[in-house]
Amino acid sequence: MKLTLLGAAGGIGQTLALLLKLRLPVGTELALYDISPVTPGIAVDISHVPTSVKAVGYSGEDPTEALKNSDMVLITAGVARKPGMTRADLFNINAGIIKNLVEKVADVCPKACIGIVTNPVNTLVPIAAEVLRKKGVYDKRKLFGVTTLDVVRAKTFMSELKDKHVETVRVPVIGGHSGPTILPLLSQALSEGRKVELTQEEIEKLTYRIQNAGTEVVEAKAGGGSATLSMAESGARFAVAVFEALLGDGCVRYAYVESKEGSGYPEFFAQPVRFGLEGVEEILPIGELSQYEKEQLAEMVKILENDIKIGKDFVNQA
Ligand SMILES: NC(=O)c1ccc[n+]([C@@H]2O[C@H](COP(=O)([O-])OP(=O)(O)OC[C@H]3O[C@@H](n4cnc5c(N)ncnc54)[C@H](O)[C@@H]3O)[C@@H](O)[C@H]2O)c1
Repeated sequence: MKLTLLGAAGGIGQTLALLLKLRLPVGTELALYDISPVTPGIAVDISHVPTSVKAVGYSGEDPTEALKNSDMVLITAGVARKPGMTRADLFNINAGIIKNLVEKVADVCPKACIGIVTNPVNTLVPIAAEVLRKKGVYDKRKLFGVTTLDVVRAKTFMSELKDKHVETVRVPVIGGHSGPTILPLLSQALSEGRKVELTQEEIEKLTYRIQNAGTEVVEAKAGGGSATLSMAESGARFAVAVFEALLGDGCVRYAYVESKEGSGYPEFFAQPVRFGLEGVEEILPIGELSQYEKEQLAEMVKILENDIKIGKDFVNQA
């Protein structure tokens, strides 16, 4: 089995490459690709770490060699947010990069699962879907936006607020992956298997913090970039779990995927997904929402639908 990481020389990519080298199943081939000429060196560097995952690096304009026979492609290629930039500002640059890379995936390894980390995820996943559809190889089971960082942050911030051991906390996060489209379902939060009780004030503050956590990092790095280490760690958690599902060890994770027809949710939506041998096996129910969450959902759906439309138009009007 082979996993290809596109954007492997970046802030997220390098740490993610190391974590994949440490955590992917024995015998996996890990192909690292980036336009940066240091990429083969990154592969040599991590190849000295003693695990039996085999890392090979590729650079230059063409990812074909890195993509050959790949079962899963993770994309972190693009530009990251600087202070004052919104995720939408990244759109024009990153949309072109994703379109070109996904066209290559469609040509070289059309059956591979594709996980998109590059922002804006809300819009880049629909772009990838349209590109694959135009190439005649779109399979909705095999395309997902990586929203694990929202779930990880929700868990961490909840444990801080309620003084709980973070490992015991579960918080579902649905919707999209920017600002108000990120909807933590705090009414369903659990700690040690029990419902966590929150005041309305706590709910509103915590929801805001989870939705704006990316900006917290951008501002704290004072011009030095956006979240890289926590993103790499959460990306590795997601990718390894899904990769193992392709080998037969199914898992349930939240991800931004094509919704079930007639679900009433936008066409692409972050929701609980059971992953199996072919990628998305089943989309699971979201559960009961509180009145506050229903209101947030109603507001957010308009933004998310617009984000999805921008992505489709980008490909179809080109
Ligand atoms: N999904 C999430 O939760 C999440 C969280 C944080 C950041 N991000 C996003 O991830 C992306 C990467 O962030 P970063 O901090 O690693 O940025 P970075 O600038 O450090 O790295 C990006 C890498 O992409 C490479 N690249 C650019 N064009 C390429 C191409 N055509 N082919 C291959 N490689 C190419 C660059 O050379 C660079 O090494 C950004 O879009 C960022 O906004 C997503």
